[in-house]
Amino acid sequence: MNKPEVILIAAISIDGFIAPADKKTLSSTAWTSKEDLHFFVKKSKEAGTLIMGSKTFETIGKALPERKMFVMTSQPERYASYEDPSLSFTKATAEEILADLSNQGCEKVALCGGSHIYSLFMQKGLVDRMFLTIEPFVFGEGIKLFSGKNEQKFELISQEKLNENGTLVLEYAKI
Ligand SMILES: NC(=O)c1ccc[n+]([C@@H]2O[C@H](COP(=O)([O-])OP(=O)(O)OC[C@H]3O[C@@H](n4cnc5c(N)ncnc54)[C@H](OP(=O)(O)O)[C@@H]3O)[C@@H](O)[C@H]2O)c1
Repeated sequence: MNKPEVILIAAISIDGFIAPADKKTLSSTAWTSKEDLHFFVKKSKEAGTLIMGSKTFETIGKALPERKMFVMTSQPERYASYEDPSLSFTKATAEEILADLSNQGCEKVALCGGSHIYSLFMQKGLVDRMFLTIEPFVFGEGIKLFSGKNEQKFELISQEKLNENGTLVLEYAKI
């Protein structure tokens, strides 16, 4: 399949969660660093096109500047009030979205979560590269990065320490 490079971007806890079980006591701004936010903005702008699930979109609630956003939902009509031309709400499959983007000349797309959408693309073998920001938190329980059986091999390409607290960004590419 001719498709853009799919780059998964996620912030995770040391124990592999993308969100704690109780977001009221530990909001995303409390456990992720400003350096990770800057990293996300830079990487997602480099890609220019973002794919995410409707639940993740609802935590953002708006278009992100200088990026096209494809929001996966079984009910696009629920989002009819959003008129920003950079936002598309779609019930197309992952493969259909990527094929459309490829036809439009898109070479790179950032996969921005959440767990459902990360898992969907991973299980279909569509993820080429991952940037995982490991924040120095342990949650014990929460929303896992991936769910379901899935065995794929990746190699570590780069590692970077973003701040004095020890926030790390690990870059992996599919072998
Ligand atoms: N730490 C991080 O980097 C990071 C990144 C992103 C998100 N998050 C967190 O992750 C959580 C959300 O993750 P999540 O797994 O619950 O939700 P999600 O992946 O953002 O969205 C799931 C929703 O997408 C729609 N969907 C799923 N598969 C679809 C398909 N094949 N076709 C069309 N629509 C589909 C469904 O909603 P409909 O009812 O609309 O069909 C589904 O409920 C939030 O707490 C968020 O803060 C963390």
